[in-house]
Amino acid sequence: MLITIKDIEDAHARIREYLHETPVLTSSSFEKEFTPGKRVHFKCENFQKTGSFKARGALNSVIKLHAEQPNLSSKGVLTRSSGNFGAGLAYAASLVGLDCHVACPVSCSPFKMGSIEKYGGKIHLYPKGWESRNSIIPRLEAELGAYTIFASVEPASVSGHGTVALEILNQVPDVDAVIVPSGSGGLLAGISTAMKNKNNKIKVYGVEHDTSLNLKNSFQLGEAIQPTERRDTICDGISNTSVTPFALEHILEYVDDIIQVPDTGAISALVFLLESMKIMTEPTAALAAAALMQPEIVKKYFSECQNIVVVLTGGNFDILKKLHLLGETQTKISA
Ligand SMILES: Cc1ncc(COP(=O)(O)O)c(C=O)c1O
Repeated sequence: MLITIKDIEDAHARIREYLHETPVLTSSSFEKEFTPGKRVHFKCENFQKTGSFKARGALNSVIKLHAEQPNLSSKGVLTRSSGNFGAGLAYAASLVGLDCHVACPVSCSPFKMGSIEKYGGKIHLYPKGWESRNSIIPRLEAELGAYTIFASVEPASVSGHGTVALEILNQVPDVDAVIVPSGSGGLLAGISTAMKNKNNKIKVYGVEHDTSLNLKNSFQLGEAIQPTERRDTICDGISNTSVTPFALEHILEYVDDIIQVPDTGAISALVFLLESMKIMTEPTAALAAAALMQPEIVKKYFSECQNIVVVLTGGNFDILKKLHLLGETQTKISA
C-alpha cells in the first residue's frame, strides 16, 4: 500500500521540533553558467541535523514506534546503513532513550561511522559481498532482539523523508521541477508522493550515477532489480544500495524519469557548490546539481521549467582528507 499525503503531513507534525527547516539558497553564477533564464533553488539538507535528510525518516519511525508499540523497541533499534541513515537513527534513538545498532559495510566511510558513534550508535561491521550484506540483519536480530528499521522499507521512514517536499512547497511555491539523488529510493518515493498529491504538474526526477545498475534499470523494467555486481563510484551514499520494491511502487506511480550523470559530474558539482556557494556536500548529494550542469539534460528535461529545486541531500564527507589538504597544511605548519 502506498503512503499518503496525510502520512507525510502527520510525520511533519511529529518530527519538526527536532529538526531544522533547512534553507533554500540560490546562485546567480550557477544560473548564468548552466541554466540561463531559469531559477535554481538548492534545498540544503546537508545542513540538516546529523548532516543529511535521513534524520527525518529515522525520527518519524522511532518516535512513532516508541509511542505506539513500546514493547517492540524495548531492546533497541537496528538498521543497515552506509552511514547517513545510521547516524539519523542513532540521533532519533538517543532522543527517546533507546539503544541503536547499525550494521555498516567494511568499506563504510570512517567519517560517517564516527558520526554514528557520536550520536551513541553501536557499529557492527560486515564483510564485502551480497551474502554477508543480506545475512547480517537476521543474525543481529537474533543476537540482540532489536527492532529493524530499513530507511526505504518502513512506511514511517519514507513518510518522514517526504517532509522535505512540504518544506519545498512552502519555500518555493511556484516550483515546477524537483531533482532528487536516489539509491534505495525512499527519499524519491516520499518527495514524489507529496509533490504529485499537492500538484501533479510538478515534475519529479530521480538521479543516480551513470554506472549504476540500480534505479534506471528498475524504473524501466517496472521491477526492483537486485544488482549482482557493484560498479565503483565516488557516490558512497548510494553505492551499496538497491531500490526497494516498496519505494519503487511509489516511484513508478509518481516519478517522471530517472536521470544518470557520471561521477566526474558529481565531483565538478561538489567543487562548484563549495567554491561558489560555500556549501559543503557529499558526492551523492551533488548529483542533482550535476544533472543541471549538463546542457543536454537541461534541454531534454527542463526546457519548460522556470523554478527548479535541487535537493542537496547530505554533507557528510571528509573532504579535507580526500583533498589531502590536511597533510599539506600540516607540512606547512611544521616547516
Ligand atoms: C547523501 C545521500 N543522498 C541520497 C541518498 C539516497 O537516498 P535513498 O536511499 O532514499 O534513495 C542517500 C542514501 O543513503 C544519501 O546518503
